[in-house]
Amino acid sequence: PFNNRVRIVEVGPRDGLQNEKTTIPLATKIELIERLARTGLTSIEAGAFVSPKWVPQMDNSSEILEHILKHSIQSPVPITYSFLAPNAKGLDTATAILAQHRGAFTTDSDAPSPSPPSSSSPTPPKPSLEIAVFAAATETFSQRNLNCSIADSLDRFRPVIAGAKASGLRARAYISVVLGCPFEGHDVDPRRVASLATSLLEMGADEISLGDTTGTGTAPRTKELLTCLRAAGVRDEDLAMHLHDTYGQALVNAAVALEHGVRTFDTSVAGLGGCPYSPGATGNVATEDVVYFLESLGMDTGVDLDAVADIGEWIAARVGKSNESAVGKAVLGA
Ligand code: HMG
Ligand code: MG
Repeated sequence: PFNNRVRIVEVGPRDGLQNEKTTIPLATKIELIERLARTGLTSIEAGAFVSPKWVPQMDNSSEILEHILKHSIQSPVPITYSFLAPNAKGLDTATAILAQHRGAFTTDSDAPSPSPPSSSSPTPPKPSLEIAVFAAATETFSQRNLNCSIADSLDRFRPVIAGAKASGLRARAYISVVLGCPFEGHDVDPRRVASLATSLLEMGADEISLGDTTGTGTAPRTKELLTCLRAAGVRDEDLAMHLHDTYGQALVNAAVALEHGVRTFDTSVAGLGGCPYSPGATGNVATEDVVYFLESLGMDTGVDLDAVADIGEWIAARVGKSNESAVGKAVLGA
C-alpha cells in the first residue's frame, strides 16, 4: 500500500545554528524550539553534547535539555527531541540530566499514554528523547569532524547507542558525506555507506540519516546510493535523508528518495545552517520548501506551513541571516 505519511525532522535548532559565529542567546534557541513544537512537527533536533572547543554554539545544550524536561512545552502531537552525542561523555551528560527528571519524558518501555479527554484543558504530551551519533563515509571527514578514524568512531558509538537504548531513548546514527566529501571528492563509495549503515543498525540504531553534507549529491547518485543500500539489506523505513542545499539539488534528491521509498527527511527552518567541518556548505533544505513540495504531491507531513514560514522569517532575522526558503518568502509575501 502507498504510504503517504512523511516524517519531517526539524534540525534547525542544531544544524541550523551550530555554525553561527555570534553566540545565539539561550532564550532565542528555546523560543525557536517552543515555536517549532506548536507546528505539528514530531521530531526536533535541539542541541549537541559535543566539545564546546570544537563547536562553541552548542555549549548551552544542557540548559536546552533541562528546559525541555522542566517545562511542559505545548505541542499538538508528542515530540521526540534529539541531541547529538559523539562519545560516552556526550551521552553521560545527557543521561545525568535525564536522571534528575525521571517521569518528565516517555521511554520505549512506557505504556502508550491514554488519549486525554477532549474537554479539559489539555496537558501537553510528554516528550521522547533521542541521542544521535554521527559517523562519516570518508576517513578525512571523520578525522576533521570527530578527530578519529571511522573504525575508532564506530567503537565509540557502540556504547553510546547501547547506553541510549538502555535508558529508553531512541538512537539515531548519521552518516556524513555520503554523496561527496569536501576533502576526498564527489565519488564516495556507496558500498562503504552501506557497510557503515549495516554496522550502525546492528549496534542498535533505530534509524540511519544519510548526510549529503556538501550538497553535491545529484539525482542519479542519490538513486545509486539508495539502490546500493537496499541491495545490502537496509530497509527504507530505517533511512532518513539529510540533504544540504548548497547546489540547489536537495528537493530533486528528496524527490528521488521519496520515489525510492524513504519517508523521513531532515530539514531546517528558513534553510539555516552549515557544517563547521564542510567549508562553504549551506544549510539543510528548508522545512517550508519540503513541506510545500510534499503536500503538493498529496503527502501528509502534519506540519502547518504558514506557521513554519513565520518562524523561518523570525529566526532568520534574529540570527541576521537571509531567509533561504523560497516557499517561506512566497507564502509570507502572498
Ligand atoms: P577530542 O579533542 O579528540 O576529544 O575531540 P578528547 O576525548 O581528546 O577530549 C578533549 C576535550 O574535549 C576534553 O576537555 C574533553 O573533556 C572534551 P579538556 O580536558 O581539554 O578540557 N570533550 C567533550 N566536551 C563536551 N562534550 C563532549 C566531549 N567529548 C570530549 N561530548 C570530539 C573529539 C568528538 C569530542 C570533538 O571532535 C567534537 O566535539 N566534535 C564534534 C564535531 C561536531 O559537533 N560537528 C558538527 C556536528 S556533525 C554535522 O554537522 C553533520 C550532520 O549534520 C550530518 C551531515 O550534514 O552530514 C550531523
Ligand atoms: Mg548537517
